[in-house]
Amino acid sequence: MSEHSYSDEQRAAVYRVIEERRDVRRGFRPDPVAPEVLTRVLGAAHRAPSVGFSQPWDFVVITDRERRERIKALADRSRADYAASLPAARALAFDRLKTEAILEAPVNIVVTCDPTRGGRHTLGRHSQPQTAAYSSVLAVANLWLAARAEGLGVGWVSFFGERELAAELGLPGHLEVVAYLCVGHVSEFTPEPELAAAGWARRRPLDWAVHAGEYGRRGLPGQDATSLLDELRAAIGPPDADAMTAARERLDRMTKPQGSLGVLEDVSARLAGLAGCCPPPMPEPAAVAIFAADHGVHAQQVTPWPQEVTAQMVANFLAGGAVVNAFAAQAGAEVLVVDVGVRAELDHVPGLLPRKIAPGTADFTAGPAMTREQAEAAIAVGAEVARDLVAAGNRCLLTGDMGIANTTASAALVCTFTGRDAAEATGRGTGIDDATFARKVDVVRRGLARHRPDPADPVGVLAAFGGFEHAALAGFILGAAALRVPLILDGMIAGAAALAAEALAPGATACCLAGHRSAEPGHAATLDHLGLRPLIDLGLRLGEGTGALLALPIAASAVRALREVATFDSAGVTDKG
Ligand SMILES: Cc1cc2nc3c(=O)[nH]c(=O)nc-3n(C[C@H](O)[C@H](O)[C@H](O)COP(=O)(O)O)c2cc1C
Repeated sequence: MSEHSYSDEQRAAVYRVIEERRDVRRGFRPDPVAPEVLTRVLGAAHRAPSVGFSQPWDFVVITDRERRERIKALADRSRADYAASLPAARALAFDRLKTEAILEAPVNIVVTCDPTRGGRHTLGRHSQPQTAAYSSVLAVANLWLAARAEGLGVGWVSFFGERELAAELGLPGHLEVVAYLCVGHVSEFTPEPELAAAGWARRRPLDWAVHAGEYGRRGLPGQDATSLLDELRAAIGPPDADAMTAARERLDRMTKPQGSLGVLEDVSARLAGLAGCCPPPMPEPAAVAIFAADHGVHAQQVTPWPQEVTAQMVANFLAGGAVVNAFAAQAGAEVLVVDVGVRAELDHVPGLLPRKIAPGTADFTAGPAMTREQAEAAIAVGAEVARDLVAAGNRCLLTGDMGIANTTASAALVCTFTGRDAAEATGRGTGIDDATFARKVDVVRRGLARHRPDPADPVGVLAAFGGFEHAALAGFILGAAALRVPLILDGMIAGAAALAAEALAPGATACCLAGHRSAEPGHAATLDHLGLRPLIDLGLRLGEGTGALLALPIAASAVRALREVATFDSAGVTDKG
């Protein structure tokens, strides 16, 4: 404790106000806020730190009802646009959320930023002009905390076209709108953020956000730095036996003949074991992450498709024009694309996560596809994507992939982990002629002979054959397993990655459901090896995540049945004698 620290009680009050600050969307009381209280709160905002002491903020205090009505109409329009952009499961949840209290709160405060204030030579703004806006954000934070201490709720509304709002407020053209805040007395402060309570998103644990010295070296102050992979391994545990037993018992008491839901009974029990409770949560919202990368082995002419098709299909996914988009729309799932190694430079558009490790792997018949460090980095990318999607509120993850020539890399991985021969594990991918097929088998065989991969060293195996999407998918699976969230595997590429994930952390694939059985011969061998039973078998051989998406409603039905079907006792139905 330093001689300058506050007393225990005062420190407790500071941490309390931080802990209990809430974004308030509902429950505002109409009674006015006393001018002296409002002035104190604005004074706290005005004490914020600012770049070069530029104090770029101004505060527009709005109480006039008609003006607030016009502003509310602007927000309603934005809200409708946002709602229309959501996948079905999210749209339903959004519909139940209150997003603003422009009319309910008696006072609205707009915090602006004047990025020109302080003149041309503002200390510290020279190389980072955006620090002007950051300074105004600090004013917002001060206002929010002071308001909480005064017993006032604050809700931040950002559903506005910024210039539309600026015009309504008569802001000079050089001022930016930073925040629109609804302020007033409230009936309660909820113990948790409303979005967390509603299951919309979760707070990320602190240790996900703290890095020691350089990004990626995890560890809270005073703890040894760990790798993400070690963290994931430590978090992966066996299914909860009690929850599985409870699920089995409930399935037997449900108003249906025992066992009559076949494989679905195993699915419900497994998901209960994974969640550690019976019934488990519904696997929604769901998101399919399409990991995309290019392959050096493409040079061996293992496919008739040119390599540019990887990037072109990524553009198609992002434009919503691929089969995966149609199936995702049908299943109500979100689609995102993770560039882990596409050869081309991709435009950064919404829905694309730019996480390129390198522009494609090297040809594995000539040397390793990637370095061990690159394999580890790709695993970390996949795990981080899983964490982000779960923190964003998803309760089911689906694998997708895109990478011309990736069935060749998959075959090499499958051979390594299952011990199958190249001829057994190699398939015709997108559809190839006999000559190409013979060449492909030979390529896999030469790769295996060259690298003599050790299945007990999965990072080495991934580095030998690639691709970046396989390594990232393995990390994605580990991320889901560590968070005990169900993950639906697509076909051959996901299966090969699941073999690597299981080798990296035995037991990891307990979180996996096999969405389907692909037409690729190596896939059946993979599912046998993992002990996974595919939910559908429709001869698909497309990838992208399509098979996983088709299985999503089946998994959801299994859980819904466990949650909602009456038991013989509750429904008063006579069980068989
Ligand atoms: C920059 C920013 C913009 C926000 N915009 C909105 C919004 O438009 N509508 C809304 O309901 N909440 C909005 N929020 C509130 C967040 O959703 C809120 O912070 C989140 O629920 C966390 O809740 P807490 O403040 O209670 O911890 C915004 C918050 C911030 C920081």
